Amino acid sequence: MVYPIVKYPDPILGRRALDVAEFATAELRQLIADMFESMYAANGVGLAAPQIGLGRRIAVIDCSVGEDPAQRLVLINPEIVRREGEEEAEEGCLSVPGFRANVVRAAEVTARAQDVEGAWREISGTGLLARALQHETDHLNGILFLAHLTTLKRDLIKRKVRKLQKTGAW
Ligand code: NI
Repeated sequence: MVYPIVKYPDPILGRRALDVAEFATAELRQLIADMFESMYAANGVGLAAPQIGLGRRIAVIDCSVGEDPAQRLVLINPEIVRREGEEEAEEGCLSVPGFRANVVRAAEVTARAQDVEGAWREISGTGLLARALQHETDHLNGILFLAHLTTLKRDLIKRKVRKLQKTGAW
């Protein structure tokens, strides 16, 4: 099932999501399948559970946008445990559609996360994968990419969103 994507400034996007404690359940497997389906339907490379209105620490990533099954990643209770270097690149978010901005992130990271069975593993990445790991982990901590922008840039986007809200186009 394809879930509608929750948009900024919905309060769930600003809250820390709760840890997942139960693994290998049919419910969790279905939820993850639905998250991939919802992400592909929206042409995203990452989706965090709060973006479908669920405050649980679950995110999915696929930097190939559905082209390569080997790139499908499930991150449950993820944490960034290593950060190296810095890289600035343009970034967007399915919850802030139509707006993109340059964000400085660590160039290389390692995330520690559980899989659907509850097993812990480490995922390292550079480039788009490093960016997605940081962006999605941020989501689970209630942080949007907007928080990494200068106040000036952030306020500009906020103003434009408010204008769209008034016209019913958001
Ligand atoms: Ni996002």
